[in-house]
Amino acid sequence: MTDITQTPKKLFIKTYGCQMNVYDSERMAEALGTKGYVTTENADEADMVLLNTCHIREKAAEKVYSDLGRLRPLKQAKPDLKIGVAGCVAQAEGAEILRRMPLVDLVVGPQSYHRLPEMVEADGKVIDTDFPEEDKFEHLPARKALRGPTAFLTVQEGCDKFCAFCVVPYTRGAEVSRPVKRLLTEARDLVSRGVREITLLGQNVNGYHGEGEGGGWTLGRLIREMAEIDGLERLRYTTSHPNDMDDDLIAAHGDVPQLMPYLHLPVQSGSDRILKAMNRKHTAEQYLRLIERIRAARPDILLSSDFIVAFPGETDQDFADTMALIREVHYGAAFSFKYSARPGTPAAEKPELPGEVGDARLQELQALITSQQRASQEAMVGREVGVLYEKPGRLPGQMVGKSDHLHAVHVHDPAGKAGDLVRVRITASSTNSLAGERISG
Ligand code: SAH
Ligand code: SF4
Ligand code: F3S
Repeated sequence: MTDITQTPKKLFIKTYGCQMNVYDSERMAEALGTKGYVTTENADEADMVLLNTCHIREKAAEKVYSDLGRLRPLKQAKPDLKIGVAGCVAQAEGAEILRRMPLVDLVVGPQSYHRLPEMVEADGKVIDTDFPEEDKFEHLPARKALRGPTAFLTVQEGCDKFCAFCVVPYTRGAEVSRPVKRLLTEARDLVSRGVREITLLGQNVNGYHGEGEGGGWTLGRLIREMAEIDGLERLRYTTSHPNDMDDDLIAAHGDVPQLMPYLHLPVQSGSDRILKAMNRKHTAEQYLRLIERIRAARPDILLSSDFIVAFPGETDQDFADTMALIREVHYGAAFSFKYSARPGTPAAEKPELPGEVGDARLQELQALITSQQRASQEAMVGREVGVLYEKPGRLPGQMVGKSDHLHAVHVHDPAGKAGDLVRVRITASSTNSLAGERISG
């Protein structure tokens, strides 16, 4: 539905935060495509700059304001330049953004960005942070902006868990699952455009309960159905909550070959006292038993997690419990953060620990994770793995892709091209990637 009477206008999008924002940015670009916008990598030549923002920690949210400040000279040189703020900061701060940053023309929340095409044509400043009745996905154009053989697909949005530290239930609203039929259509469409690996996304993806044939479908059932799509070689999903890992989903890790052996399963802390204060509704022991069951279904599965250190009230013993849990699980990777008090969340009412306590704990935890990550990479050396090439590497004749276990792998393969799924023998491990040689495919 592109209006060809318009000359193309350039759109620059910067994405902050999680993978769901990456997906949303692609869909916003497609929506603005109907108004003649084409994306550019160069902000200086843009007719519109859109920041798709994240509110999860104070630093992430403040970064948006410093980036907006840096756009001032561009806006002065080009008064017609449109500047938009989307995503979770837009949702959380709304009109406050326009007050603090008069150069902003447009503020749009994560649930109303299907209205962007009308919003860009409005005169003056516009703001839309509704949680509308209508389903935004139904009002968005079909998928177009693909980045290669891998794609994200949002199946579930929002969160009802209300962990005491987290803004997501406020910025993204209540849990909603998209209907099975639409997801299968979108997945088939992606595959017909050359996608071979899909990562199913949701703030609470394993809480998926979308409407399908015969009632509500679980994530396990959706994965089994998607695995039937011809040409779809690999499936992943993120992010999961431990309490929503049901038996069928665990079993799928053992019996659906397309489901890759990598699972991001955040625990946040290894101390029951802190888990309780965080409102996580599980103990460290329950998490460890769950991991045992997952490993029984898929022994070589690689696990990752998120951790928060220096949550209000965290003692040395609580932190030691977290370190002990990490030692017991042995992760392949993990993200870790120093607690950041977020306005409006219950934890923000509690006194914070001194900054240096959090810094020291974070450093100690990250050192342990780094050593585990290195060990898990080194264990791959000599093994044969599947690699899906994503793009050429920096060296001539080199391709880069991801292994089944989500390791980045560099392969010298002059005949290789993006989208090839090949067998590779791993020959070396470096800080953040593996190297290997192609053996077939
Ligand atoms: N839905 C996912 C991820 C949410 S945000 C989940 O439930 O795990 C990603 C990560 O950011 C969280 O897992 C948590 O580790 C971290 N995070 C969230 N709020 C935070 C805060 N206030 N301070 C520090 N880290 C935070
Ligand atoms: Fe935030 Fe907890 Fe929901 Fe994850 S499960 S999005 S950490 S409230
Ligand atoms: Fe950030 Fe919103 Fe994602 S707060 S982590 S962009 S859901």
